[in-house]
Amino acid sequence: MSASPTPRSRRFWPAGPLTGRIRVPGDKSISHRSLMFGALAVGETRVTGLLEGEDVMATAAALRAMGATIEREGANDSGATWSIHGVGVGGLLQPEAPLDMGNSGTSTRLLMGLIASHPITAEFTGDASLSKRPMGRVTEPLGLMGADFSGTTLPLTERGLSPAVPITYRLPVASAQVKSAVLLAGLNTAGITTVIEPVPTRDHTERMLRGFGAELWVEEENGERVIRIRGEADLKPQTIEVPGDPSSAAFFAVAALIVPGSDLIIENVGLNPTRAGMYQVLRQMGGSIEELDRREVGGEPVADLRVRHSALTGIDVDPAFAPSMIDEFPVLFVAAALAQGRTVTSGLDELRVKESDRLAAMAEALTGAGARVEEREDGLVIDGTGGAPLAGGGPIATHLDHRIAMAMAVAGLASRDGVDVDDTAPIATSFPQFEALLEGATGS
Ligand code: S3P
Repeated sequence: MSASPTPRSRRFWPAGPLTGRIRVPGDKSISHRSLMFGALAVGETRVTGLLEGEDVMATAAALRAMGATIEREGANDSGATWSIHGVGVGGLLQPEAPLDMGNSGTSTRLLMGLIASHPITAEFTGDASLSKRPMGRVTEPLGLMGADFSGTTLPLTERGLSPAVPITYRLPVASAQVKSAVLLAGLNTAGITTVIEPVPTRDHTERMLRGFGAELWVEEENGERVIRIRGEADLKPQTIEVPGDPSSAAFFAVAALIVPGSDLIIENVGLNPTRAGMYQVLRQMGGSIEELDRREVGGEPVADLRVRHSALTGIDVDPAFAPSMIDEFPVLFVAAALAQGRTVTSGLDELRVKESDRLAAMAEALTGAGARVEEREDGLVIDGTGGAPLAGGGPIATHLDHRIAMAMAVAGLASRDGVDVDDTAPIATSFPQFEALLEGATGS
């Protein structure tokens, strides 16, 4: 098992209103894919706005270990440019050492897909959180394509097969990672690989693979999304501007909604419809979130969000929103804890297999901070304070989950006595600037 960084505890105190303008880092999903697809194109891909978090760096290290050249060039005011020289589809090399995936499920599952159709044997390792997460959801379809796996949790060894066998696979869980793993295995597999998606999930893989020149079609058949990719593709290098991550922006949106007097602009937030459910739900709760200067960045819809303190009301969250806000529930639960009345969530079984069991972790964390929460099999029921601060407390157990740490930091801002978070180190996996941006926005 790979080591986790030394735990770093911190108390998040009540703080003044969030004001001014902030810019959140690049989208995590798009950053992983920029590196992976660049590593498979022949020639130089250039990326700006890449998220420089630990998860994305784990992807970069693994791709380097398999032959890609990935370099960070000097940063200017608009950030660093990353240069990637790819090896071509089918050109990944045998890594000499185990691939350390750290905390990152996306790196693990997507790279398992890539390796599945290469004549490569690779060992995957991860931290204590990742080593508990289910990999059977990708080893099963990739096994049908011909890859062999020593187990269904990390550490495990994967033996890819070339040529692999194209399959048609209906997703048994709504997971963009599983969809992407199969499509990426299909990239180097002769013939057509098909994924059927009964419930749409984030579509960055489809959009970006098309942008890189792969032949990929998406059709609606009997109410399902059917995605087909022609293998042995030639990917052409691209210049990519990664939009800001809506999942990272969500922590600041909720913070501004619940801290009185806040009026915050969050710049450059990606609003791909398969990702933006959180903002619709927050508006249904009465949140004032305005989209300014809607535009396109890197082929994705983007806007600046103006978020003002609002009196939130509890709602029944339609479970149909879940896939488009799957990473945002921890901080939605914080918004619910400060709303007037009851918020009911359901259909969230997938939250139990994220970086932590997010239903159990958030029920425990919010209860520890003075909120009224009932944990159900597939969701939480929360009776909010109507805007009165939570009592606060802790220590809150983060369970190596960045989003639990950040959600409870936000809860601390709207508490009387502050909230003690046992470990803020995992925040660096997805949002290294989080604490500094929070201090800047609250003037603390
Ligand atoms: C991701 C897909 C989601 C999400 C994760 C990133 C991706 O996971 O939770 O943070 O980049 O494809 P699932 O596909 O397992 O739902």
